[in-house]
Amino acid sequence: MPTDFRYNTGETHVPWAAVGENYNVHDLMEVIRFLMQGEGAEYDQALKDVWQQVKKLEAIATPPGKLSLGSKVEAAEKSVNDYLGSDSATFVTNCTAGFEIAYKYAGIGPGDEVIVPAITFVATMAYPLSVGAKLVFADIDPLTMNMDPADVARKITPKTKMIVPVHIAGYPVDMDPIMKLAKEHNILVLEDAAHAFGAVYKGRKIGTIGDFASFSFHEVKNITSFGEGGIVTTTVPGFAPEMKRARFFGLDFSAPIKDWLYNITAIPGKYKPFVAQNSSTTEIQALGLALQVSRNEEIIAKRRAAAEYLNSRLAACDAIIPQKLGDDRIKPTFHMYLLNIDPKKAGGDIQQLKKKLDEKGVTNIPHFGPLYRFKVVADMGYDIEAIAKSCPNCEESFYHRFTHLPLYGLSDDQFDYMATAILDSVAEMKAGK
Ligand SMILES: Cc1ncc(COP(=O)(O)O)c(C=O)c1O
Repeated sequence: MPTDFRYNTGETHVPWAAVGENYNVHDLMEVIRFLMQGEGAEYDQALKDVWQQVKKLEAIATPPGKLSLGSKVEAAEKSVNDYLGSDSATFVTNCTAGFEIAYKYAGIGPGDEVIVPAITFVATMAYPLSVGAKLVFADIDPLTMNMDPADVARKITPKTKMIVPVHIAGYPVDMDPIMKLAKEHNILVLEDAAHAFGAVYKGRKIGTIGDFASFSFHEVKNITSFGEGGIVTTTVPGFAPEMKRARFFGLDFSAPIKDWLYNITAIPGKYKPFVAQNSSTTEIQALGLALQVSRNEEIIAKRRAAAEYLNSRLAACDAIIPQKLGDDRIKPTFHMYLLNIDPKKAGGDIQQLKKKLDEKGVTNIPHFGPLYRFKVVADMGYDIEAIAKSCPNCEESFYHRFTHLPLYGLSDDQFDYMATAILDSVAEMKAGK
């Protein structure tokens, strides 16, 4: 039985066997059965064959010494650093946990203002909302649904401590003006890069521009670390070595812990030290992440081809505004397809189109909407209608112009069906049907 390296008790007759139960063949077989589901005689036989082989392996193999925060986590972080050109990648439980490190570094609390885009997912704002900071909602660019830097500029006050651009659907936010504003006003930038792993802005990978960036590897993202996971990066000078400590109560497991009483220390924040959380990840998640990182470019290329196909089919309709595809310097990840219409030309708005697509069996993605319309914001006492008035593009786009469609794992026939369904639906709307 391997001893738990964290305690560093060394060679002894009675080691500190704090590792606990590792795993056995049964556990492993259930994982295989879960990941590769099936039924019938052939499936049962194949599973039996695997079982025999796994039992043979068990007789000659040893279990890994560590299941959490070990060499696989380190290797996954290295592969992400190599891929992004960063030096701080820290593998955490999810993207939201990465945000928490950044928000704590900024010391966000009551009296502070955080500028978030009007359209994103609730995760972006959960931490500032929960600690009583004031959320300020920036309007969007109607072509990308991303935060509009001009509206950010209008909404900065002396209390603004953080700007949180979200690269919606993996299309990079226009970062230059945001970084310029941040520098001028001594504001930190946290990129919500949940959808943007591998995206490039003016030749630089997302994750190397803002003070912090956090990516999601939840099961519905472009790549996943077995269902959950996040990578957080930083460009804050001197903070990269603190990132691992920020993940687990102030400790870095790459070296033995000498003294738990005194080695657990606060993390240096921008204004004051903060107490780290526990966002540790497992070796198995890390294996999944490293493997999928190595396939990321291939996956983005497939998604791009799908977006190009949809753009080329939908070009037949003057009421559809084509999804931006990027160029040599701007490379999106094509996490979702942005279907954007001109309601005047379409003879109806996106609500009607969504209904028609629904009837034709084309699914659309419901949860990227005005952040200030999530009930929790009203529950926290915000004046929703006043905020809505300050975000006219968001209101117009969400209610009348856009929806997101899936882009991956579909057959050619399904893509063809989707494009035809969109074209037919808009034609019906134009004909007043
Ligand atoms: C824009 C955005 N930000 C943050 C998150 C949170 O990611 P995670 O589930 O990894 O915390 C999501 C997840 O869907 C998201 O869509």
